[in-house]
Amino acid sequence: MSLEKFVDPLPIPGILKPVGKLNGVDFYRVAMREFKQKLHRDLPETTVWGYEGTYPGPTFEVRKNVPIKVKWENNLPVNRHLLPVDSTVHGAQPSNPLVRTVVHLHGGNVPDESDGYPEAWFTNGFKQTGPFFTQKIYDYPNAQPATTLWYHDHALGITRLNVYAGLAGFYLIRDDCEDQLNLPKGNFEIPLVIQDRSFNPDGSLFYPRQPDPPPEGFPPGFPDPSIVPEFFGDTILVNGKVWPFLEVEPRKYRFRLLNGSNSRFYRMKLTSGQPFIQIGTDQGFLKKPVITNEITLGPGERADVVLDFTAFTGQNIILTNDAPSPFPNGDPVDPNTDPVGQLMQFRVNLPLSEPDTSIVPSRLCSLPRLKEEMAGVVRDQTLVESADEFGRLLLLLEGLRWSDPITDEPELGNIEIWRLINTTPDTHPIHLHLVRFLILDRQPFDVKRFQETGEIVFTGPAEPPDPTERGWKDTVRANPGEVTRIIIRFASFTGIFPWHCHILEHEDNEMMRPYEVVAEEE
Ligand code: C2O
Repeated sequence: MSLEKFVDPLPIPGILKPVGKLNGVDFYRVAMREFKQKLHRDLPETTVWGYEGTYPGPTFEVRKNVPIKVKWENNLPVNRHLLPVDSTVHGAQPSNPLVRTVVHLHGGNVPDESDGYPEAWFTNGFKQTGPFFTQKIYDYPNAQPATTLWYHDHALGITRLNVYAGLAGFYLIRDDCEDQLNLPKGNFEIPLVIQDRSFNPDGSLFYPRQPDPPPEGFPPGFPDPSIVPEFFGDTILVNGKVWPFLEVEPRKYRFRLLNGSNSRFYRMKLTSGQPFIQIGTDQGFLKKPVITNEITLGPGERADVVLDFTAFTGQNIILTNDAPSPFPNGDPVDPNTDPVGQLMQFRVNLPLSEPDTSIVPSRLCSLPRLKEEMAGVVRDQTLVESADEFGRLLLLLEGLRWSDPITDEPELGNIEIWRLINTTPDTHPIHLHLVRFLILDRQPFDVKRFQETGEIVFTGPAEPPDPTERGWKDTVRANPGEVTRIIIRFASFTGIFPWHCHILEHEDNEMMRPYEVVAEEE
């Protein structure tokens, strides 16, 4: 269905307040519920799932090194999912409860019991729990630099559905260095989560029941519902509103951009021709601001940017998108004609309420970088395409499934280089829980030769990451036909953590593996 663009103001998620103290630490309770929310002027109210009755959920604002505790509570329907559940994918078998949740703090350096492990799920009232469930109250140490994290559901086999239903929100860490930068703040600092959805005419969320068309050779007994290889909605929402507008003053604003979509990538520009002044990546500030006309985000990635509207009084500026889906070789998106080619609108029509004294300093906050020589281990991780017993596309890491034994056991504190060898035709946003990393480079290789002989023959030079991705990351785009090298220090906790493709339809169907950080050997 087609909805008119830019008729609703951008909502800004509220800030969560602790409910009290627990062992001297700020304690939050966050309940997941089903409720109705108005997502567009002309759309009947939509039933969604959200945290604390809002979609997206309220924002956490925490300080570096000030730990908090959170009790995530599932008050969702007990045995009725909002969306079609395929019971043939891992974790979603009929013997498991239909509605399971577990909350992952994406980008958080947290102990494994608080990570939101996909099999640490729990149901309404904790009546049933998954095999990895250990505790109801999570500990977030927040011992990491100021940045934009986000929390979202991660239940094995239904993550794509739980997140699509609305279970996601922001988690901002602040620190003293950030305070000294004098960036735009208060009303001039706004998080923006970009998501694509489709709707039925009655306003309900549409999510496909089966691939359309089904895979070739459609075998008898093909699952119904069946997982789809990717899902791309035809409507864009920002902060839970369809194609919203934001009225702004002629001054600088800081925006935390988050791609919270299931499968869609965004390659963003502004119709005013003005640049993004990028100040941060997934895991914190860049060393210096990067002036760029274009920002690309795969699912799970974030960019911290400043936009300066000073010279644009009276203008309506559209944030556009021309990322093909699947990325980068799928259907092209024309920002002028394609509905998903436009994301939201900025209207520079408010009077300046006070002089803009904020600045973007030429030096931001940064951590010492890891150098290639520091790495003791190089691990090759191959991204491969195969098919399951129903002929459905199955993407795997190292050809292994989620439930196969752990094959990666980095030692606590050690530095490793992971080579993500992408033999598939698409870009996969690869996310490692627990850690932050840097991108070293990307280099094209002969995929066919590799598939036949296992030998990597490079076909071009190694390219350094784009300036927009030269900061600390937790999610990296591994492009097709390229070896993407990242350097990682495995700190600060031992335990079992997932790493996976952040295309939710992929992680729900085996493109996810556990790894274990082990204690140093004597
Ligand atoms: Cu945001 Cu394991 O994911």
